[in-house]
Amino acid sequence: SKPKVVVTRKLIDHAQALLDSNKDLEIVQWDSEKPAPREWLLQNAQNASGILVMLTDKIDTELVSTAGSTLKTISSFSVGTDHVDTALLKSHNIRLGYTPTALTDAVADLTVMLTLMAQRRGGEAMAKVLDGEWPQMPWHPLLMTGPQLGGSTVGFLGFGRIAQATVKRLLGFGVKKVVYLTSRPGEGAREDHYGLLGGGKSEVPIQPAKSWEEVASESDVVIVGCALTPSTKHLVGKEFLAKMKKTAVLVNIARGGVVDTDALVEALDQDRIFGAGLDVIEGEPNVPKDHPILKQKRCVLVPHIGSATVPTREQMAEESVKNLLAGLRGEEMVNEVKL
Ligand code: GLV
Ligand code: GLV
Repeated sequence: SKPKVVVTRKLIDHAQALLDSNKDLEIVQWDSEKPAPREWLLQNAQNASGILVMLTDKIDTELVSTAGSTLKTISSFSVGTDHVDTALLKSHNIRLGYTPTALTDAVADLTVMLTLMAQRRGGEAMAKVLDGEWPQMPWHPLLMTGPQLGGSTVGFLGFGRIAQATVKRLLGFGVKKVVYLTSRPGEGAREDHYGLLGGGKSEVPIQPAKSWEEVASESDVVIVGCALTPSTKHLVGKEFLAKMKKTAVLVNIARGGVVDTDALVEALDQDRIFGAGLDVIEGEPNVPKDHPILKQKRCVLVPHIGSATVPTREQMAEESVKNLLAGLRGEEMVNEVKL
């Protein structure tokens, strides 16, 4: 019988065509705009050789043991892999593909958007206009004023591809200094550590921070760009927020769990920081209308759309199909997680 692959989404046209062209495979695919239910995935995973998943699908012992010994490869349509038990895959010799390079620019763009929205009170300002408040607030010199990106010190938690591509953009806005904290050995340490700047030297200092305290206290903008791991969970909590400047903004484009939402709500409520721009939040997508974060006028929250440009999602789809196929055939993936 043909090797079976399970795909938890319908894919964008050319990626779907690339997948369908493999007549030597049995392709089982979830065919709806909603995420595939867990039960569907478990039922269909039996004897699968490969599974192509979204970041909403958990890859754990239950799924891997349901699939059984045929399972060779997992391909994730994402850069983040916190939904995957990587140690488990390693112990079963299952390869893991992901799409870290495809989405770098799209997420860096969104990071700049959230930074500017948080500093310039974009959400709050637009909400006032939509509420019909403009007639009561004619132009005046201090109307809706906020901090300015030019001249800011920007601090990064995590300094991978997305962070560095964000720096490249921020230099165009005249930021004064960049500091970063990274747990990855060697990351950022090379002379051309901002390799995404084309290896060119920047006149703006781009420096490693000694501690998270330094990032918190020095930055006018704190950007969370690190992976969610046991050591980064709630890294931005009460203590971190207490060390931030009153005029600073927090931006999270990584995973909600790096930020303690309750502590953030409290800091915003008490005006201990200026504002926040979030693409992700703990417990997403479960953010009902009465969620306390939604009461915060200075918090811009968008629904995990960092990589949501048409070309980026097309490329992610194509790369995840290529990774899946490469995993089945023992070939080199476009991007593979070193387990
Ligand atoms: C998005 O959050 C991703 O991990 O691709
Ligand atoms: C992730 O991007 C990190 O720098 O740890």
